[in-house]
Amino acid sequence: MKNVFKIVKDSNPSLRKRCEEVSEITPEVINFVNDLHEYLVLSQDEKYAEKHNIREGVGLAAPQVGRNIKALAVYFEEQNEDGTINVVDHRLINPKIILESIKEVYLSGGEGCLSVDEEHKGYVYRHYKIQVKAFNVLKMKEEIITARGYEAIVLQHEIDHLNGVLFYDHINKKDPFQVKEEAIRL
Ligand code: NI
Repeated sequence: MKNVFKIVKDSNPSLRKRCEEVSEITPEVINFVNDLHEYLVLSQDEKYAEKHNIREGVGLAAPQVGRNIKALAVYFEEQNEDGTINVVDHRLINPKIILESIKEVYLSGGEGCLSVDEEHKGYVYRHYKIQVKAFNVLKMKEEIITARGYEAIVLQHEIDHLNGVLFYDHINKKDPFQVKEEAIRL
């Protein structure tokens, strides 16, 4: 196993910076994004995670491993209604949200982050559906990705990192568990 990144924690001001656009898609950057992906895969391997004392993650953005560039990985498996497994695997450079639904979604258990060790209780409302334009490393071309529900939540969380935003910034300080009736609860 080649890379165990050191995760930058939210006490570090670098997580509050805006990341730079990647001006040239080089093999080095491609490798880096694939390494972000590999970290997530390994983090979901119980034995590996325990041995290396790392937390399980479904998304990782470049600034979380000390590089302030616009790159991220998302990886998780989800079960479809018919019982089949759907693998969600995004490895993106220069992602940009180009469309967001008015409809909102939130996780009933709130969000977490590999860079945040303390618990921040409260709901984080996100757009239920988004479209993201990005260079897709898996296809080696620019394309538009449409995501809904949990996938859209994770993508928005990671894209926030590229803008120096952390999930708890979105929690209503006065009323952390404010329920918006029209929002979808997952
Ligand atoms: Ni995070």
